[in-house]
Amino acid sequence: MRQTLSRLFPCAVAGVLLCSSLTAQQALTPYSYSIPKKTLVSHGAVVSAHPLASQVGVSILQQGGNAFDAAIATQLALAVVYPAAGNIGGGGFMVAHLVTPPHNPGKGAAAQHGSAVTGRDIALDFREKAPAAATRDMYLDAAGNPVKGLSENGHLASGIPGTIAGLFAELKYAKLPFAKLIQPAIDLAENGFVITAEEARNLNSAQGAFKNYNTVQPVFVKAVDWKKGDTLVQKDLAKTLRLIRDKGAKGFYEGETARLILEEMHRGKGIITAADLQGFKAVERNPAVFSYKGYSIVTMPLPSSGGVVLQQMLKMVEDQPLASYGFESVKAVHLMTEVERLAYADRAQYLGDRDFYSVPVDTLVSPAYIRTRLALIPARAGNSRDIKAGVLSPASEETTHLDVIDAKGNAVSITTTLNGGFGNKVVVGGAGFFLNNEMDDFSIKPGVPNMYGAVGTEANAIAPGKRMLSSMSPTIVLNKGKVYLVVGTPGGTTITTSVFQTLVDILDFGLSTDDAVNLPKFHHQWLPDEIFVEPGFSTTTRDSLKVMGYTVAQRGSIGRTEVIKVLPGQQIEAVADNRGDDAAVGY
Ligand code: DON
Repeated sequence: MRQTLSRLFPCAVAGVLLCSSLTAQQALTPYSYSIPKKTLVSHGAVVSAHPLASQVGVSILQQGGNAFDAAIATQLALAVVYPAAGNIGGGGFMVAHLVTPPHNPGKGAAAQHGSAVTGRDIALDFREKAPAAATRDMYLDAAGNPVKGLSENGHLASGIPGTIAGLFAELKYAKLPFAKLIQPAIDLAENGFVITAEEARNLNSAQGAFKNYNTVQPVFVKAVDWKKGDTLVQKDLAKTLRLIRDKGAKGFYEGETARLILEEMHRGKGIITAADLQGFKAVERNPAVFSYKGYSIVTMPLPSSGGVVLQQMLKMVEDQPLASYGFESVKAVHLMTEVERLAYADRAQYLGDRDFYSVPVDTLVSPAYIRTRLALIPARAGNSRDIKAGVLSPASEETTHLDVIDAKGNAVSITTTLNGGFGNKVVVGGAGFFLNNEMDDFSIKPGVPNMYGAVGTEANAIAPGKRMLSSMSPTIVLNKGKVYLVVGTPGGTTITTSVFQTLVDILDFGLSTDDAVNLPKFHHQWLPDEIFVEPGFSTTTRDSLKVMGYTVAQRGSIGRTEVIKVLPGQQIEAVADNRGDDAAVGY
């Protein structure tokens, strides 16, 4: 009999039930649940932005599913219980480590059958694409100026959704039938679940936008304020999920759901066509893999900037005595800030969808180039006017993250998004799901910042069928070929710097997993030339940074980092971020 070693820590209160010791074996209780922040277990764990979604994932593990089964079920449950970011109308990335032969091996996987010990690293790109009718200047007025909000809200802001194609691409590594993985999401949508205080706040803050941008009033619009404990029922979404259960990806990209998306586009003057939907494909890519202090870091390549930016930042600090500087010390924050500045300057200049634009990735991460960049770091505060992207030789605030590990050591790290909270705010009439506003991640005009303040150039200009540059950096750290850490977070451009800090916190500063997740983070992205710090960041360090010449600004929370760490003896420690309703469940 399985022994449950779950040690569930004092946790926040959700729904109507006081926080109690929740075990994954309990049936899903959508009307009263707690929010466990940490679990220490021996078989498998799921950390996600919502306790019900984490519970769904663990129950799939307990029914014989592997990490991919659990990730699919968790992702689908998030699309129901976390409508601000969980989605079927958005897109994302998966990074995974597979140690067992797949049940239904796809192309390229068969070679792994005899090599279960070493395993295989996988990167799956289900990022949205620009519709075929998209044009480079589609968000500019006749004078060439950006039309305020056009790339952020409403029908034109949406890229072609990629999540469902992604889920079916993940399925080739899963063991259980898809119908079993999607059923918990269908039940949660059909029968409803109680919302948390944070969900109520999110829904209330978007009421005006929901009314503005929808052509058919969605269930999320309410005459009186949403409050903690209200039940959210999503019948249209349940119907759409049933179509996907019964017809596969065609249940979304073709037939009734596609018809509803196209009608929505027609009513709202959007440009996504039937051909855009039918033509969408998720793509397996070679993951970005590099070493850091003897560990192997596996992360997402382009069109995520993570593969290049995280690698540049870690490689720049790898030989520096960071540990002796200490966590949140002036010296450490100075070095890490300058490294972030340099990497984000290159991001703005060089990074974009490699299928459309030639990106000199190898040069950007080469040791020689890293050395020349490192040499630019001044003793005092750097200045973004002086720092530009490197000159290369010619040759050369809503998203959600989930981590899963299973008893065999397979691990899945997925970051998925609608981009902003509730995406473009448009719910597809009759189909019940939000569309993304991912088009804003393109550089709509060179030098014009997007909603995260990121600027870009030609590399990330809009083109039909192109994928917009992302910061999402689902990451897995291997130690001698075995999964050691599973890490990721939402947070727009702060994603890559948060993953960077989390890794350095654990691997260099020796912080506990809880501290690496929950202690204040900081962020610099070249432009604007400011260090953003979370509330609680050391005031002494902050004052010293100002004396060095930095502008330091306090902002709201940075990301919601989820970490799974494999301890000696194969114990699994899973920690969910305290910044939200995020929950760690295991068995
Ligand atoms: O792909 C990206 O980088 C953004 N669309 C992510 C947005 C995000 O993380 C917002 N969440 N807080």
